[in-house]
Amino acid sequence: MIANPKAPNRPRVLAIANQKGGVGKTTTAINLGTALAAIDERVLIVDLDPQGNASTGLGIDYKSRRISTYDALVGAMPLAQTIRETAVPHLHIAPSTVDLSGFDLEISTASDRAFRLRNAIATLERPTRDADGKISNGGYSYALVDCPPSLNLLTVNAMAAADAILVPLQCEFFALEGLSQLLKTVEEVKRSLNPDLSIHGVVLTMYDARNNLSDQVVADVRQFMGEKVYETVIPRNVRVSEAPSYGKPVLLYDFKCVGSQAYLKLASEIVQRERSLAAA
Ligand SMILES: Nc1ncnc2c1ncn2[C@@H]1O[C@H](COP(=O)(O)OP(=O)(O)OP(=O)(O)O)[C@@H](O)[C@H]1O
Ligand SMILES: [Mg+2]
Repeated sequence: MIANPKAPNRPRVLAIANQKGGVGKTTTAINLGTALAAIDERVLIVDLDPQGNASTGLGIDYKSRRISTYDALVGAMPLAQTIRETAVPHLHIAPSTVDLSGFDLEISTASDRAFRLRNAIATLERPTRDADGKISNGGYSYALVDCPPSLNLLTVNAMAAADAILVPLQCEFFALEGLSQLLKTVEEVKRSLNPDLSIHGVVLTMYDARNNLSDQVVADVRQFMGEKVYETVIPRNVRVSEAPSYGKPVLLYDFKCVGSQAYLKLASEIVQRERSLAAA
């Protein structure tokens, strides 16, 4: 577990963002979160999408969700009180409800409107070890924020709270379309709200080896974004898309499938990148 260089007592916050819909944000939040937990990180997924797909995909039934990230953002309760356990050891989630869709309007005049998530996460701790090396508190080493498909106030809150952004890009013809708008927003947030914000990396998703277009997209994105693109590419894999309907991450649904293995590889690549950032 690597210390958070900027804020030693706070979880490392990675916002999973792309205003394009259906590119694999939620799938990445769930399965990267699971893979990080499997390599002994303590992970919190923050569901910031009113659709609540990360919550459902982790088996948190909609009917049982009375409290959500909305309550933390409007200041009704501390974020810790919204958090639920999942079937994955060391992976917790702050679920969402449709209440979140009213957040933009309800909060638009509050002067701290962009910092609601940052302030909520600031109340969380990192894991600490006792003398035997055992983790002795309920802290988190990573908070992964699943953003909605929009550059709205919720996404701005995620970017203002984040140490870095992880951008999933689907291997399809229009993959790069909209990316410059996203990068522009990141620059704007960096300038006005969060000077330390960076792009952690770009993860190519739903790669289809049988489709020549996929290779072309990988080449184009690597040319445009250079080393920011993770080496790991997530293949299109039917097991990945089936898992959420069972309320499970693909790593629990079918550990051996190529999708699970790719997310494990991505997790170790991310931890590796974190080590080099911490050493820099
Ligand atoms: N590697 C994959 N292989 C097969 N299907 C996938 C893969 N990744 C994602 N999918 C499927 O693609 C669809 C969109 O994925 P996902 O919900 O993760 O995208 P999203 O960016 O979160 O969407 P939204 O913008 O609506 O929040 C889902 O049905 C998901 O199961
Ligand atoms: Mg989603």
